[in-house]
Amino acid sequence: MTVIVLRRHQVEVYVDVDAGVPTIVHWGAPLGDIDTTTLRAAVERPVVAGMLDVVAPISVVPEEGSGYYGRPGLAGHRMNGRAWSPRFAPSSVVADGEHGVTVVAVDAVAELTLTTTIHLGETLVVQCRLDNDGADPYVLDRLSVTVALPAQASELLRFTGRWSRELHPVRAEFTSGVFAAENRSGRTSAEYPPLLFAGTPGFGEWHGEVWGMHLAWSGNHHIWAEVLNDTRRAVQFGELLQPGEIVLQPGQSYDTPELYGSYSATGLTNASWGFHRTLRARPTHPTSERPVMLNIWEAVYFDHDNDRLRDLATVAASVGVERYVVDDGWFGSRRHDGSGLGDWVVSPDVYPDGLAPLIQHVTDLGMEFGIWVEPEMVNPDSDVYRAHPEWALVTNGYEPVLGRSQLLLNLAHPGAFAHVLGQLDALLRDHDISYVKWDMNRNHCQASGADDAAGTHAQTLAFYRLISTLGQRHPHVEFESCSSGGGRIDFEVLRHTQRVWTSDCIDPLERQTIQRNTSLFIPPELMGAHIASPTSHVTGRTHNIGFRSVTALFGHLGIEWNLLTMSNRDRETVTAVIELYKRFRHLIHHGDLVRFDTAANGPGHAVDPAGIANGVYAADRSEALIAVTQLRTGTSLAIPPLRLPGLDPSRNYLIRKVSVPGERGVPVQRQPGWLTSGITLSGRQLAVLGLQMPAMNPETSILLHFEAQP
Ligand code: DGJ
Repeated sequence: MTVIVLRRHQVEVYVDVDAGVPTIVHWGAPLGDIDTTTLRAAVERPVVAGMLDVVAPISVVPEEGSGYYGRPGLAGHRMNGRAWSPRFAPSSVVADGEHGVTVVAVDAVAELTLTTTIHLGETLVVQCRLDNDGADPYVLDRLSVTVALPAQASELLRFTGRWSRELHPVRAEFTSGVFAAENRSGRTSAEYPPLLFAGTPGFGEWHGEVWGMHLAWSGNHHIWAEVLNDTRRAVQFGELLQPGEIVLQPGQSYDTPELYGSYSATGLTNASWGFHRTLRARPTHPTSERPVMLNIWEAVYFDHDNDRLRDLATVAASVGVERYVVDDGWFGSRRHDGSGLGDWVVSPDVYPDGLAPLIQHVTDLGMEFGIWVEPEMVNPDSDVYRAHPEWALVTNGYEPVLGRSQLLLNLAHPGAFAHVLGQLDALLRDHDISYVKWDMNRNHCQASGADDAAGTHAQTLAFYRLISTLGQRHPHVEFESCSSGGGRIDFEVLRHTQRVWTSDCIDPLERQTIQRNTSLFIPPELMGAHIASPTSHVTGRTHNIGFRSVTALFGHLGIEWNLLTMSNRDRETVTAVIELYKRFRHLIHHGDLVRFDTAANGPGHAVDPAGIANGVYAADRSEALIAVTQLRTGTSLAIPPLRLPGLDPSRNYLIRKVSVPGERGVPVQRQPGWLTSGITLSGRQLAVLGLQMPAMNPETSILLHFEAQP
C-alpha cells in the first residue's frame, strides 16, 4: 500500500493511492508513527461468505466495477449504454509535501480519466475531474465526492429549512440505511443546505469526535450518507445533474464542486473553527471593520420617496450607521414585485434627477452607499423581456411556471450575459456605490438553455462568471449573497461575496437558532444580522430592543427598521447599541466563535433548547464576550451553571455583565451576587465548575464580558 500522509494541526489524512482512485483510509486524530504494512494490517477487512471475493474500498469515487455495493461515485454512460461501470487503474501521483496530493487514474476501456485532488489546510478539501478520452460523447449523470467515515461516526446532525426559517438542526442516528437529500432549486437552498456533521453518539459543542462536511456549490446538489452492512460509512456530496445536463464531448471534462471537511476531536465548536479559518484565509475575505448598515427594505418596501429616503439617511448617520443600502424598487418599472426585473437602469419616475443626489447626501453624511440587484432574473413585464423573450431560461413549448411573477434570465446566453453585465457595470461605474446586495428569489423549474437541455449547471457557472467579472472591474465594491435570505450560503459564492443575508426573518427569537446554526460554518463577520422594528414583519411577534440588539450583535450588524418612526428613547437606545457593537466588533469578527451546551437541555444541539449561550473568545484568550439567552420558559427555574471550556486554564478572568441598552430587568427576589459585583474565576474553574446563570425571562439575553487579569 502506498500511502500519502497529510498533516495539519491536530488532523491527519492517510490517502491510499495504489488502486487508481485514491481512498482516504483515515481522516481524523493523528496516528503517531505507523508504517504502511502495519496500517494495512490494521484496516484489512475480512472477506465473508455471501459476498464477493474482494472488499472494495470506499474510495473518493467508489466503483461498482471494483465490487463496491454501496452507491457508486460515478454514474454515466456512452450513447449505447457502454462504459457505465468503470474501474480505474493508477496513472500518476503527485504529492505536494504534507499538504496535498493529486492522483490521476485512467480507465482505458471506458476511455475516461479521473483526477482527484486532496488538500489539507484549515480544512480537508477534495475535488475530482473527469475527462472524456474517447471518440464519442459520454453522458454524465453524477460525479460525487465520497468520504469514508469510521463506525463511531454513528450520529448525524443535518439541517432542514424553508424561507424565513433556515438552518434548523435535526439529529438522527446513523447506524443503518441511508440519509439522502436532493436540492433542485437552482440555488444553495433554504431546504437542504449542503452541510452535514457526523459524530460519536451525543457529540456536543465541546465533546465528541465530529466530521463536518460542506459542498461549495450554489446550484443543485445531492447529499447521500450511507451505512454499509459491514459498518463502514460513506458520505457523498455532489452536484445534482438533471437528465442530459452534462454530455462530455471528446476531450471535454467536468469538475466537481469542492467538498470541505472539518474534523474535530473535541466537538462542534472546534469543527466550526476549521470552516471559519478556511474562509478567513481567503484573499476575498473582508479585512476592514464591518460597517453598521441600514437596509431600507422593511422601512419603505417599494415606496421610494426621495425626501423620505434622504431623511432616513440623515437619521441613520446620526445614530452611527456607516453604510446605507437602497433595496428593491429603484430601477425600471419596479414599483411593485411584478414588474421591471432585468432593466437595471435608474427609474426616472422615482429618481427624476438620478441616484446621484441621494448618493451624494449619503456620502456627505460619511456613509457608504449600497444598492440591491437581482441580476439572474427577469419579469415578463420588463423592457428586456419584451425585446428578448428568447433570453428566458425556460423550456420551449411549455407555459413557464412563474415565481414571484418572474423568470430566470439565461446568463449562459452571450446576449443576456452582455446585457446584464453592461447595465450593472455602468451602474457601478457611474455611481459612487460601495456595496451590492445580490438577490436571487426564484427556484429553477424547467430551466433549459437555448437547446432546451437542462441549464442549471451552465447558469450556475455563468452566475459565478458575472459576479466575478463585476468584482474584478470594481474591486472596491463589496457583494452580499442574499437569495431570499439564507438561500445561497456556501463557500463557492463566498469566493465572490463578503457577506450573506442570513434570513428574511429578523425576529430575534427565530434568529437565535438560525444564526447559531449558520455559525457552524460561517464566521460572524460574514453573517448579516439586523435589528428590526419592534414587531417582526414576518412573524408578527414583538420583542424588546435589548433582545433584538444582543441577537444582532454576533454578526455583521445592521438595521432594518424605519428609523423615522422611532421614539426619542429608541433613538438613544439604538445609538448606544451601535456604540456597543463598535466597541466589540473587532473581538467578534476576529476571535474564535464559541457555542455552549446548556446541560439542562442535553447535548449541544438539542433540538428545542430553552436557554442557549454563545459568544467569542479572543484568539489569544485575553478576553471573551458571551451572550446567554433564555429563548422560552424551560423546565428548570434558571439556566444551570454555564461551563466555559477553552479559555486559558491558568489565567484569571474578571467577569462582568455588560449592560445592554434597552434591556429589561427580571422580577426575582435575588439574583446571584456576581451579576452586580462581578466575579473572578480562572479558565480552569470556568471549564470545570462553571458559573451559575441568573434567572431570566423568556426572550431576553444577558451579555457577559470576560477580561484576563494581569
Ligand atoms: C428578498 C430579500 O431577502 C429581501 O431582503 C429584499 O431584498 C427583497 N428580496 C426585495 O425584493
